[in-house]
Amino acid sequence: MVERAIDPLYLSEQYGTEERLRIRIEAHQRYSERADDYLDWILDRLQPRPGDLVVDVGCGVGSIHPALCARGVRAILGVDVSRAMVDASQRQANERSLPVIAIEANAQALPLPDDAYDGAMANHMLFHVPDQRAALRELRRVLRKPHGRVVLTAAAPEHRSRLREIHNLAAQQLGYTPADSVMHRFNLDHLDLVREVFPNVERFVREDAFLFPTADAACAITRRAQSMPSRIDRRMAATGRACSRWLASESRRSSAQRASSATPKTPGAS
Ligand SMILES: C[S@@+](CC[C@H](N)C(=O)[O-])C[C@H]1O[C@@H](n2cnc3c(N)ncnc32)[C@H](O)[C@@H]1O
Repeated sequence: MVERAIDPLYLSEQYGTEERLRIRIEAHQRYSERADDYLDWILDRLQPRPGDLVVDVGCGVGSIHPALCARGVRAILGVDVSRAMVDASQRQANERSLPVIAIEANAQALPLPDDAYDGAMANHMLFHVPDQRAALRELRRVLRKPHGRVVLTAAAPEHRSRLREIHNLAAQQLGYTPADSVMHRFNLDHLDLVREVFPNVERFVREDAFLFPTADAACAITRRAQSMPSRIDRRMAATGRACSRWLASESRRSSAQRASSATPKTPGAS
């Protein structure tokens, strides 16, 4: 069976149109605990210099391109395997007059010359690439040596673990097997893999969390961007219960459990 993260059907469901990716980006903007700008944080790691040429592999809708252009780069080449993403990036560039060209290509075989780019990025995309070593070698090949820099962003392995925990519980109660997280294919723990191709790799961790004000908000986001609550919804429809009410009560129950297990004991008290 093909793994979900690289299954062409799953990829076309996620990236065949812009909608799901935009919802996920918006959810991070609206519900992240940290107030500082995530894209600026990434660009501070890339350290682009005015006049640089940068390639953005798996560019999606090009959400980082305006901020990167604001740092004075000469041009960005956006690369994505999805036509819808290439069109979205190019449309944004045209509307804002950004020096961006977006092309349809695969990270595993970039149709680009050697030693051509001062900077490269592959943000939240390597978990979708079947041959990750090939993609890493391609990133290295197109970078100008020795000064070129590459940034690879990935989630932590425990990313969304609380939502997953609640989903697993729903699955158990409703009698189905939940799908695996797609993040296990490439996350912050895959440093050794990256080191094979980039021996000087450094890992930077940016701690953050989703803070959903209500269970309805968490439900709405995951329902529109993923398939989790829609599977719960279908099963619950049969029992006449509502997913968000169920999620709210489960989340209260697990918060109470956590709070009670985290209560510090008074020294000396039994
Ligand atoms: C989670 S999105 C990330 C988009 C963007 N980098 C961002 O951070 O907003 C993953 C992107 O990688 C693209 N992608 C998946 N597999 C790819 C591959 N083998 N080569 C190039 N792009 C790919 C998808 O089409 C999608 O646009």
